[in-house]
Amino acid sequence: MKAKTQYSCQQCGHASPKWIGRCPSCQQWNTFVEEKIAPAIDHPASWDGSPIPFDEITGVDVPRLTTGIAEFDRVLGGGLVAGALVLLGGDPGVGKSTLMLDVASRLSGNAVGLYASGEESAQQIKLRGERMNLRTSQLHIYAEMSIEKILGAAENLGARVVIIDSVQTTFSEKLEMAPGSIGQVREVASQLLFWTKKNHIPVFLIGHITKDGSIAGPKSLEHIVDTVLYFEGPRQHPHRIVRTIKNRFGPTNELGIFEMASTGLIAVEKPSALFLSQSETMGPGSAVLCCVEGSRPLLIEIQALVSRTHFGTPRRLATGVDPQRLALICAVLEKRLGVNLWDQDIYLNVVGGLQVEEPAADLAICASILSSLFNRPVASSTFIFGEIGLGGEVRPAVFPEIRIKEASMLGFVRGIIPSQTVPEPASNLEIFRVNNLQETQQFLFD
Ligand code: TYD
Ligand code: MG
Repeated sequence: MKAKTQYSCQQCGHASPKWIGRCPSCQQWNTFVEEKIAPAIDHPASWDGSPIPFDEITGVDVPRLTTGIAEFDRVLGGGLVAGALVLLGGDPGVGKSTLMLDVASRLSGNAVGLYASGEESAQQIKLRGERMNLRTSQLHIYAEMSIEKILGAAENLGARVVIIDSVQTTFSEKLEMAPGSIGQVREVASQLLFWTKKNHIPVFLIGHITKDGSIAGPKSLEHIVDTVLYFEGPRQHPHRIVRTIKNRFGPTNELGIFEMASTGLIAVEKPSALFLSQSETMGPGSAVLCCVEGSRPLLIEIQALVSRTHFGTPRRLATGVDPQRLALICAVLEKRLGVNLWDQDIYLNVVGGLQVEEPAADLAICASILSSLFNRPVASSTFIFGEIGLGGEVRPAVFPEIRIKEASMLGFVRGIIPSQTVPEPASNLEIFRVNNLQETQQFLFD
């Protein structure tokens, strides 16, 4: 049965019985989306019944299902919680279906699992599964796009885990709009949310990231679902990273690191050295950052190439680091160290294609730029971390002990770290505690 719908402007809420191109109220273009007139009627308004006194709430220690892939359990916050709605977003072709098929088959070892796909036929999925040598005792594949049919099938089968591939191809029969439109995407996600909470069954929802950004993409669902994972990985590199963006059941910013093989994704268990270039000695322009992503320390090589500008304005190009951050660091270097960068092109690259977001990367970025500028290699086996302020001062970073320990385990013997770092590092390390850029420069080279 079709529900009564109206079109409403996503900017200002102006409603109309018909679709209009430009909102007569706020004058925005293309903001009208079909919505059900009384969406609250179909969904239960609560999943617990009545208010409960805080002290009497039980069942806080949620049991977690393990997926059998440690790297994936880690990003879920230590396993899958029953009743969780998990969104896995990523670019088309990055490997979302492959990873979820693997997870689905492992979770279906002793319980029924349902993998619903609107993207591929059951035969295509079977072919992929065979290539990956999956054990699929109780996994069911359903090539279906209607969310009502999928959830009906899940209930009939008694499924204990449901995977939906993808949110953009799934639609609700209650709306007339095409699959993939923002109204459909939201409707599918909110139906799933109520279904998971009512039945205490976890659901994975796959979502493609759209080119132009957020509309109808996973971004518009982040507030609805419990957990948001993003799957990323540069095309040229074999490794893939699953990152926790939001998690109602665990910490965010966790990383799971995988390697892509013809048989599927293989978890990388000791990834901390994956982002170092393999050469024995590092030339000028390279510095090793010891960063912490989530709770995991990683040693990452940062490379800079500083070369004379030949045309007008110097170029600043950064991959793996925010270009704004690079511009800021260049300004601080010029002002506080008095080096000339105004007639130099600067290219910055993070080895292995990782995106480095933490501010503690600043000092290593500085080191790589100085090293290339002076054409002197950073002293061998040196690791670096620390944030830089506008005054050229070095600020402390979180989790210094974890960083130092990991670097030492990987054979680094020399550390340049913020001076306020509290713990006294192990005695076999040569540690230079620095307050500012001048001191950093002193200890950088042999
Ligand atoms: P796929 O899982 O279909 O990507 P998505 O669902 O995100 O669009 O993977 C894309 C292609 O890469 C597919 O042809 C299979 C291949 N692939 C491998 O061969 N090995 C792997 O480990 C992965 C992840 C993908
Ligand atoms: Mg896919």
